[in-house]
Amino acid sequence: MLATTSASCARELADWPEAATLDAIGMARGLTARLGAAMAVGEDARKLVDANRNMGAAMLDMLGRSRRRPSYLPDAHRRRFCRHSEQLEKQLRADITARRRAGISRGRDVLDATLDFSATRPGLLDDHVVARIIMANLFGMRGSPAICLAWVLHLLATHPPVQEEVRAEVRAADGCADLDGLPVTRAVVKEALRLYPPSWLLTRTMARSAEIGGYRLRAGPVLLVSPYAIHRDARWFDRPTAFDPDRWLNTAPPAEPRAFLAFGSGPMACKGVSWVMTQTVIAAASVVRRWHLSADPSPYRLVACGDLRPVGLRLRLTSVAGSRAGAPNPPPG
Ligand code: HEM
Repeated sequence: MLATTSASCARELADWPEAATLDAIGMARGLTARLGAAMAVGEDARKLVDANRNMGAAMLDMLGRSRRRPSYLPDAHRRRFCRHSEQLEKQLRADITARRRAGISRGRDVLDATLDFSATRPGLLDDHVVARIIMANLFGMRGSPAICLAWVLHLLATHPPVQEEVRAEVRAADGCADLDGLPVTRAVVKEALRLYPPSWLLTRTMARSAEIGGYRLRAGPVLLVSPYAIHRDARWFDRPTAFDPDRWLNTAPPAEPRAFLAFGSGPMACKGVSWVMTQTVIAAASVVRRWHLSADPSPYRLVACGDLRPVGLRLRLTSVAGSRAGAPNPPPG
């Protein structure tokens, strides 16, 4: 998985320009979508790039414009999304059929793992369900993982000494394929998730009455739990609003480890933690290895809607001298 991610990252970054000012979320989304696709379907990802991008764009468009309209009303955005998702499913099903026919598990990607699992439970996962699992993975990569990477790159751009530390670490590790060699980068990602958790609000339904934090609560209501607020509470984190990746490296752990809630907690906690941490560390390390990041002065807004995102945030990239050759190309979308 590490080698695949690292190799796809290097491939994707080869098309980035030497110098540019880019929208942080767009840039991060382009990268996470492609890395996620490579992780999900390996080499087949390259065939799916257009269909995946079209489905992702149509889904975001539909969610933005159609969510207040009853689903039984005709709606151009929903129709467009259905068209693109059917197209993607058709392409995926062709790959699924080919892999099932070949009957050999290469165990290289999520599709292989899903097919392996379905072979142990005949009849449980038909091709349609397998395709939909992969599509959920593909779409998921355009959301929180992209927002997370955008925040990581922003924090590195606004903290040059930390950026230098990460660059030095990547050079010393001689690349981005060994996570053990990248503890500082990992700490930066964790600190970004602490300061700007994409899932800034979680919900829990009271299954039974209980006392929580001195309040007597009855069974039934939905509680809102904010990782954003908890992460910035001085009871749990020293100098809570400071960007301090060292807090994850030092021997002193946070006062209450359970206060880190970027991936939730308990049985419903995020199942993609290991995947997304690996991918974000490799992506951030790969970008910093090749480009100096700096902040663009144009203003941006912190928007807390479904997730916590920096809308309008732009980043400046300048090639680290001697790190790569080749003429500049347009950045990926
Ligand atoms: C930076 C990226 C991500 C963040 C911040 C994130 C965060 C979260 C959070 C906060 C929850 C709810 C946990 C709770 O209520 O306690 C969750 C659930 C979940 N996440 Fe993620 N996630 C990320 C990426 C991913 C990825 C890439 C995948 C899969 C490939 C994934 C799969 C899931 C699943 C399956 C659940 C539902 C778990 C359940 O209800 O059993 N997540 N995630």
